[in-house]
Parts: sequence; C-alpha cells; structure tokens
Amino acid sequence: MGNPQMLAFYITVSCIAFVISKIIISILLYKRWKRKHLVYEDDFSGGKMVMFRSPIMQSLKSDAFLKKTLKLSNKDIIGSGGYGTVYKLTVSDSTAFAVKRLNRGTAERDRGFERELEAMGDIKHRNIVTLHGYYTAPHYNLLIYELMPNGSLDTFLHGKGMNKKFLDWPSRYKIALGAARGISYLHHDCIPHIIHRDIKSSNILLDQNMEARVSDFGLATLMEPDKTHVSTFVAGTFGYLAPEYFDTGRATAKGDVYSFGVVLLELLTGKKPTDEAFIEEGTRLVTWVKTVVEQKREDHVLDSNLECCTVDENEINSVFNIALICLEPEPSKRPSMAEVVKMLEQIKITKFI
Ligand SMILES: Nc1ncnc2c1ncn2[C@@H]1O[C@H](COP(=O)(O)OP(=O)(O)OP(=O)(O)O)[C@@H](O)[C@H]1O
Ligand SMILES: [Mg+2]
Repeated sequence: MGNPQMLAFYITVSCIAFVISKIIISILLYKRWKRKHLVYEDDFSGGKMVMFRSPIMQSLKSDAFLKKTLKLSNKDIIGSGGYGTVYKLTVSDSTAFAVKRLNRGTAERDRGFERELEAMGDIKHRNIVTLHGYYTAPHYNLLIYELMPNGSLDTFLHGKGMNKKFLDWPSRYKIALGAARGISYLHHDCIPHIIHRDIKSSNILLDQNMEARVSDFGLATLMEPDKTHVSTFVAGTFGYLAPEYFDTGRATAKGDVYSFGVVLLELLTGKKPTDEAFIEEGTRLVTWVKTVVEQKREDHVLDSNLECCTVDENEINSVFNIALICLEPEPSKRPSMAEVVKMLEQIKITKFI
C-alpha cells in the first residue's frame, strides 16, 4: 500500500474509532442517568413523570403514582404562593408528598427548567427539602417534594387562629441554626454554588422533629412569579430583600445573608416583615428594630409570647447581634453563611465552657 492509501486507511480507522467511542460514552451516560431516574411517559395525559431514584420512590408504582398525582384537586390544597399551588398527595398511611403546581413557561425555558430540576434533585442535606421528582405536561409542571408535616415557620409564627402555634426559645434557636446550615450548604458546598434568592419564613419548612428545612431554592431563577402575588417583587419578597438589590437587581449570596438576618429578627420579635403596617409606614421591620436598639430599648422588641417562659437573655442578645451584622447595609460587612453558622453554634458552645 502506498502512502496516500495508508493515510486514508488510518483516517478511516480513527473516524470509526471516534464514532464508536462517542456511542459508548452516550450509552454509559444514558445508563447512568437511567440508574438515577425512573421515567414514565403517559400517552393519555401527554406528560412525562421523572422520579429521582431513592428507596421511597422505588417502592412506588410509577403508573399508580402518576394517576394519584393527576387526581389532585382543591380539597388537597395545603398552601399557595407566588409560583403556584401546593397540594398534599397521600400515597399510603405512611407515605405522602407535597406537590407544587407551576404554570408552564416557554419551551425554551422548559429545557433549562428540566436541567435545573435535575440539579435540584441531586441535592441532599438534612436542612433542605428533598425534591423527589417532577412531571411536565403541555400546560403545567408539577414538582414533587418531601412533605413537611409541620408546615412553614411563617404559619407557626403568624398563622391565624388555630394555625398559629407557640414556639419556645430553644425551638426558635434550633430552627435558626438548621436554616443557616441549609443555606450555608447551598452557598458553599454545592457545585456550582447556589444563591437561594427568596429566603423568608414561608420557605423555611419544619419536619416531624421541628428541624428546619429550606425550600424553594432555585425557583426564583426558574420561574417568573405570578404577577398577582402581592408579596413577591422581582425575584424575592419585599420586606426580606437587601437594600442593594433595589439598585442592582442582582441576587447575591450576601443578599441571602441579609434575608436570613430578617428571618432572625422575625424569630426574635414574632413580627411579620411583610406586614402591611410596616409597609404602610414606609418603615421595614429592620429599620424599626434598629431604631429601637439605638434607643437601648431592646427588650421592647422581643416577642411578647416569649415572656411567659424563661429565656436565656445572653442567647437572645447574641442572636440579636448576629441578626444586626447580617443586616449591615454594606454587603461586604455582612458575614458569609458559613460564618453565621459558626456564630450561632458558638452561642451554645460558650454556654457550656
Ligand atoms: N414540602 C412542603 N411540605 C409541606 N407544606 C408545604 C411544602 N411546600 C409548601 N408548603 C406549604 O405551602 C405554602 C405555600 O408554599 P409556596 O412555596 O407555594 O408559597 P410561599 O413560600 O408562601 O411563597 P413563594 O411562592 O413566594 O415562595 C407554604 O407556606 C407551606 O405552608
Ligand atoms: Mg415557598
């Protein structure tokens, strides 16, 4: 064989080897994806159910699960917010989920939407609500979350009538620390790092042990909030948004730290940051607390519900101080979430030294 023939032979062999290696890689990637997911396409509804593999999801029958999911109705509603309605899906006496229905966006956004959901499904942390799967149909999407039996911190602190329940100081401290750990995990341990963008008491849910679980991270980027939802402003919620957000419109980790500072104030004062009274007066919970602290009347801001029982004043003061540095107007002066976790943990450590 002459040189040109040899060259042609080598080129052909390399091309075939290249194509075969690509096919093998694709098959392996697909197999890996399949190992992580259970996909069920439903011809009748025209939708696709993706369930992330976990012992709980593997114990379910996809078609029966889908049928139950599609039968959810108004009587199953447990809440609603800026992005959609939340339903309770009961599968058996011991298994239930929270299903959030979102109105479907454009096809282009939906491709990104599925990618984001896959990333969310990979996140597992004891202080973050697990996303178990999703369902996409032509006109809407459903997100299937772990059900949090104690609802949200918001309902605990500000619920009406029977819904409002008393939270003692140790429970509030535990919730603050758990939520801080969850947000810190998103900021520092996830790759790529995740900015929550909508930290608030209704996105801090409570499990059966009253442990805090952060929910709805990523939703602010995935979805445009429903325009009719009054409390949601751009991406995030009025009353919790850092001041610089109004100038730059950019969500940052330090913006999440600020919103977490507002949640700490909420736990300490029992007041609702989105309360009309604050918004009407043009003052926010943060400005109100800062004014009272400047006047050295801190004890006036503490939640009157906490007066009934003994509370550790040193602990309360330390949490107040942490809240105030999270609420520094200058973002660079705010601590990182990892530092906030350390400061909150330190409160208990120093107590036992
Ligand atoms: N996984 C869950 N388990 C139990 N209850 C939930 C769950 N997710 C949401 N809820 C309930 O549904 C309510 C509404 O949640 P949703 O996230 O739709 O709105 P929101 O957090 O109030 O506002 P936004 O849409 O701006 O985040 C919550 O306050 C909570 O009570
Ligand atoms: Mg929410």
